[in-house]
Amino acid sequence: MTTALAIGQPTDRVDGRHKVTGGAHYSADMLFANMAYAVLVGAHVPSGRITHIDTTEALQAGGVLAILTHENLPKTAAQPPLLPSLAGMPAPGQTFFPFQDAVVHYAGQPVAVVVADTLERAQHAGALIRVDYAETPSVTTLDQARDDAYEPEAIFAGFVPGRTERGDVEGGLAKADVRIDATFAYAANSHNPIEPSATTAAWDDDQLTLYDATQGVAATQLTVAALLGLTPSKVRVISHYVGGSFGCKAMIWAHPALAALAARHVGRPVKLTLTREQMFTSVGHREEQEQSIALGADKEGRLVALRHHKLSPTSHFDDWAEPSLGVASQLYACPNYEGVYRLIRANTMTPTFMRAPGEASGMFALECTMDDLAHELGIDPIELRLRNYSDTDPNTGNPWSSTGLKECYQRGAERFGWHRRNPEPRSWRDGNWLIGHGMAAAGYPVYGPSNPQRARARLYSDGTAVVQAATPDFGTGVTTVMTQVAADALGLPLDRCRFEGGDSMLPTIAAAVGSSGAGMISAAVHTAATQLRDQLVAQAIADTQSPLHGADPAGVIVRDGRMMLRDDPGTGEGYGELLHRNFLPDVEAVGSWSPSPQSSNYGMMTFGAQFAEVAVDPDLGVARVRRMVGAFAPGRVLNRKTAGSQLMGGMLWGLGQALLEANSMDPLRGRWVASSLGDYLVPVNADAPEVEIELIEVEDKVVNPLGVKGVGEVGQVGAAAAIANAVHNATGRRVRKLPITIEDLM
Ligand code: MOS
Repeated sequence: MTTALAIGQPTDRVDGRHKVTGGAHYSADMLFANMAYAVLVGAHVPSGRITHIDTTEALQAGGVLAILTHENLPKTAAQPPLLPSLAGMPAPGQTFFPFQDAVVHYAGQPVAVVVADTLERAQHAGALIRVDYAETPSVTTLDQARDDAYEPEAIFAGFVPGRTERGDVEGGLAKADVRIDATFAYAANSHNPIEPSATTAAWDDDQLTLYDATQGVAATQLTVAALLGLTPSKVRVISHYVGGSFGCKAMIWAHPALAALAARHVGRPVKLTLTREQMFTSVGHREEQEQSIALGADKEGRLVALRHHKLSPTSHFDDWAEPSLGVASQLYACPNYEGVYRLIRANTMTPTFMRAPGEASGMFALECTMDDLAHELGIDPIELRLRNYSDTDPNTGNPWSSTGLKECYQRGAERFGWHRRNPEPRSWRDGNWLIGHGMAAAGYPVYGPSNPQRARARLYSDGTAVVQAATPDFGTGVTTVMTQVAADALGLPLDRCRFEGGDSMLPTIAAAVGSSGAGMISAAVHTAATQLRDQLVAQAIADTQSPLHGADPAGVIVRDGRMMLRDDPGTGEGYGELLHRNFLPDVEAVGSWSPSPQSSNYGMMTFGAQFAEVAVDPDLGVARVRRMVGAFAPGRVLNRKTAGSQLMGGMLWGLGQALLEANSMDPLRGRWVASSLGDYLVPVNADAPEVEIELIEVEDKVVNPLGVKGVGEVGQVGAAAAIANAVHNATGRRVRKLPITIEDLM
């Protein structure tokens, strides 16, 4: 065993300098000789048929190379089913691909692709295209069609059943001492990573290379290959740098395939970048939703029944809802439970993953209701949660692989100063501001990939190593963290290791979705690097000229690239010496990892606890978050800085969800009201309070070799609820909607 030296350190990003000095090249930064530029023209109506497209004027504009519409764009070869990219399969974001006929299903649906020799000329020509529609009535909001709701068999690409039950919820509610019924309304949310989605497509004969902003190069590769009728080996996807994603680059939308088709059509490399406005209509969104809860408890606050229903709009093509009922059904011991999803068909694209997809919205409803229960029974909110603590996943009865939830409550409360909270609403003032304190529990599942995950490790005779796996780094810090993992497994200092990813030519890794990246990629990298180390140690032992010849491999350790006897560190040699002596320029190993079959006997979840202090101006209705504390138990922490940044980003996202983020449909025009960062509000530095993160390491021997449970999304879960609960504590008002705005607090 090597001693873990790099793992856990707050190492700076190895690519940080590149990112802030312009050295990092994103998908839209690719330049080719003879490059052409494509822009998409979207439908202005939400429902109907294209009756005529007049491209005459546009075709005569300077520099225009082609205009592709449903009349001349080649039909796709296949329509792959909606599948989550988690499994490393084709992952189209919706089963609908535009341009197959003249029907318009949603506003913004692409109806033309304009290709020109410069971006500006393509944009200009796009503005000259005249499209006539025969418009038909549209449905874009819940209120327009709630009577038409249906119960789908499954949601979330088929992975989550439409209905889940345990025990007898009606009987449980009937015998409860206390019952709370509450309905929650949520605005739709739109993804706004700094980098809009972009694809640069280049053909070399029949070989396609795509530079694509994606969470998974294999997902893009397999989806585009299926759509174009190509064998995947003919499609290479490169994604070295991605400027954020948050789920909108997890599923593969139409634009990568359209860039490839346009490039083939004009016989030149083509760059297609979505505009900020198109990001609102081209890469999915978090759906508008309504959740209702009926919660029954005994006098001591122990839950006896929970009914949790959700109603939301989906597209005409797919039964999609974010799985809002999941974590909220697993967090507390409760014998009687019923969770039901209901959907309406709407003229939107299929909604998609958006950070903590479902976990955050479902836990908002549950954790606000738990706060009401605590208030009604006069029990401290943390004490109430401890009374309902579950040692097992209530849906299966399986024990948790590890928890740490109680420590999160305790250490979070200490750090926050929870004991100073006055449970009486409106009891704490700071000048004109009403001050309130709230908390909520957090949880996010640990997902394991269904396919083996692979990585390759290579050591050079100069004593440096490179470790490779196909994953892109979309801002999570995975490049840095995997360098740390490789360094420890190989027994090398960090600065002699390098991680390479973001290329489908490298060993396959599933798309990093569902907070699974750190766990599954570290598993593959650790396995590959450990195999390489073992291979080198075995070679030294077999080498008659090595000081380690004939040693017991179990007694050999590696530090700073030097293999040595644990009991006699003076006996040993460096990796480099071994390779030089044997005339080897390098040595290589490939490692493969799959979750162990026994992991299905466990519930696997990252737990946490959120605390917030808010100040509300009762005259102006302004709510400000003054402090947030989050305590999380993510298994092993690979890098305290990047893990802390992920969690802090999640908590601030929760602040946005609580107070700012909203999109809505204009029911008359069937279009999103917000279509820029000027009217779609996200927290800026001035909104960001002091955020403190408490990391609680728990040992987990089930999830993966290093016991990593993931930090990408759990930071958001419960954050909005803690804020809403603090607003209640400050004002006595229970606001059951997101976001909470001035009108709610006046
Ligand atoms: Mo994450 S919203 O599963 O990409």
